[in-house]
Amino acid sequence: MNILLTGASRGIGAAARAALEQAGHNVAGHSTRGGSGLIDADFTRSDAPRQLWEQAVHALGGRVDVLVNNAGVYEAVADDADDAEWHAAWTRTMTVNLQASADLSRLAIQHFRQMGGGRIVNVSSRAGYRGDSPQHWHYAASKAGMIGMTKSIARGYAGEGILAFAVCPGFTMTGMAEDYLESRGGAKLLADIPLGRVAGAEEVAETVRWLAVDAPASATGAVIDVNGASYVR
Ligand SMILES: NC(=O)c1ccc[n+]([C@@H]2O[C@H](COP(=O)([O-])OP(=O)(O)OC[C@H]3O[C@@H](n4cnc5c(N)ncnc54)[C@H](OP(=O)(O)O)[C@@H]3O)[C@@H](O)[C@H]2O)c1
Repeated sequence: MNILLTGASRGIGAAARAALEQAGHNVAGHSTRGGSGLIDADFTRSDAPRQLWEQAVHALGGRVDVLVNNAGVYEAVADDADDAEWHAAWTRTMTVNLQASADLSRLAIQHFRQMGGGRIVNVSSRAGYRGDSPQHWHYAASKAGMIGMTKSIARGYAGEGILAFAVCPGFTMTGMAEDYLESRGGAKLLADIPLGRVAGAEEVAETVRWLAVDAPASATGAVIDVNGASYVR
């Protein structure tokens, strides 16, 4: 399979890249800064998703089978920040986490129609269902948006062989989670996770790999939780 994977430089994305490549797939990886064979694209720029898509199609020899929207930011903004700061934080998080995923999904669907099908895997978050802290309304909203988008794509395009899935990690051991755990009291937060530990990036990566490659077509529209039962729904 030929796979475009965003946010492949570190954390869940790097683990997903390794899992997919070990399974023999061709991965066009992406990050903000590029390097290490990754295509660079900063999703705060509105033209970046299209430029990334075109470069990835070229890098993958003209055919993409799977799009994985994994890149994301987790940035705090105080609920009493001034209006300009509040709006800037919302715009940045929604643009990187949701708009860029939508832009890439739209381009992928146009391509998949020509190719006779394809898959989209969106890396959402437990926050999309459970909500997040008072400093992270925008993050939770962006991730809930990804879930609504995933289901819309699944329902709208299944008849054309285009499938869409989402994975909702809880805390996962990456830079993003380490910062958060530190800021929220570290180990005490683990008491909220019945499994007793945060997820490993490789556990989320394996879920991404399965959804991208092996999940049965009839599962399209499914959202898989990977959160140690810290939120069951
Ligand atoms: N870790 C968790 O606990 C957790 C929990 C639930 C959901 N998630 C979700 O899982 C995904 C991966 O999380 P992670 O913890 O692995 O993240 P991470 O280690 O912080 O890596 C984030 C990735 O996104 C890229 N990125 C950041 N800003 C970008 C921008 N403006 N434009 C394009 N790409 C950008 C980064 O590229 P650079 O390296 O170039 O900056 C990097 O590849 C995210 O969507 C996150 O919301 C994570």
